[in-house]
Amino acid sequence: MSAKSFNVAVAGATGAVGNEMIKCLEARNFPVKNIKLLASSRSAGKKLSFMGDMVSVEELREDSFKGVDIALFSAGGGTSQTYAPHAASSGCVVIDNSSAWRMDPDVPLVVPEVNPHAIAGYKKKGIIANPNCSTIQMLVALNPIYRKFGIRRIVVSTYQAVSGTGKKAIDELFDQTRAMINFVDYSTNVYPHRIAFNCLPQIDVFLENGYTKEEMKMVNETRKIFENDKIGVTATTVRVPVFYSHSESVNVETLTPVSAEEVRALLAMAPGVKLMDDPKEKIYPMPILAAGQDLTLVGRIRKDESIENGINLWVCADNIRKGAATNAVQIAEILGRDYL
Ligand code: A2P
Repeated sequence: MSAKSFNVAVAGATGAVGNEMIKCLEARNFPVKNIKLLASSRSAGKKLSFMGDMVSVEELREDSFKGVDIALFSAGGGTSQTYAPHAASSGCVVIDNSSAWRMDPDVPLVVPEVNPHAIAGYKKKGIIANPNCSTIQMLVALNPIYRKFGIRRIVVSTYQAVSGTGKKAIDELFDQTRAMINFVDYSTNVYPHRIAFNCLPQIDVFLENGYTKEEMKMVNETRKIFENDKIGVTATTVRVPVFYSHSESVNVETLTPVSAEEVRALLAMAPGVKLMDDPKEKIYPMPILAAGQDLTLVGRIRKDESIENGINLWVCADNIRKGAATNAVQIAEILGRDYL
C-alpha cells in the first residue's frame, strides 16, 4: 500500500457486517485518514471504537458523503439502492455488500482473487458490488480449476450460517437454543420456521422457477464474475444452525480431464485458499476452523466417479469476513492502490 490515505465511510456500521468492516480496516492497516460511521437514526450518537478512538455513529443521509473517498455499504439492499447513487455523485466510490447493484451491467462484481481487473469498471457508476457470500467462497476455490481445466457445470449445496441474515438472526438462534435446552417456549421471528436444531431449505424468497433468490444469485453472479454465460450452475441453499461460516458441497464438471491430485496441487498454491485435505487424519474444512479468519478452506477433494470429468470439493469460509467485510476491504485496497 502506498503512502496515500483516504476518508472512509462505513454505512451500516452497527450491523454484523459493518462492524466486521471496521475491524477489518483496523486489522489490515488500511490507510484511513478519517472514518465516518453511519447507520439509521436509531443508532445516531452511539459510539464505536476505531483504532483506539471512540467514534460517534451518525445518521445516514443523502449528504453524508461530502469529502468521503471510499464508502463501504452494508445496510441492506433498499438502503444501498437509495443512498449509493448519492454517495457516488458526491465523488466517492461505493463498495456495496448488498445485492442491489450486483447484476447492473455498469457495476463491477468483484472477488479480488478472481477478477481484480473488473474494478476498473467502477468509473461508470461509482459503485463496485461485493458478491453474495456463498458465491465468493465458491469462486475463490473454483477459480484455479476454471482457469486450468475449464468448467462446464457446477452443482452446489450450501450449509449457511445464521450470521448471514444479520444480528437479529444470531440472537434468534441463541435464544431458541437456550429455550429448547431449558424446555421453555421460544419465538420465531426472523426465519419462517425454527432454526435451532433444524435446517431450512429456503434462503430469501422463492421465485417463479422454484429456486430461491439466493440460489439464483449463485447462478447469475458466477457467470458475471467468470465472464462466461455458458457455465451451468445449479444451487440448493440451506440455512443451518451454525453462527459463523458457510459450508458448501461443490460438484464440478470440467471441460478437460482432471484428477484429484491435480486439483490438490493447484489449490495448495491458490491465493486466498487453505488446503485442508487429509481424510485419514480426519483433517477437512469445518465452520469452526473457518470462523474468525480470512482464508477459504478446501478439502474432501475427490473424483466424481459417476461422470467423465468430475470433481467433488467441500469448501468453508467465514461468511462475515471473506464472504463480506474482508472481500470489500480487499477491493478498497486495490482501488486505493491502483485507481484513486
Ligand atoms: P441500525 O443498527 O441503526 O438499525 P444487520 O445486517 O446486522 O441487521 O445490520 C444492518 C445495518 O444496516 C445496521 O447498521 C443498521 O443500522 C443499518 N440500517 C438498516 N436500515 C437502515 C436505514 N434505513 N438507514 C441507515 N442504516 C440502516
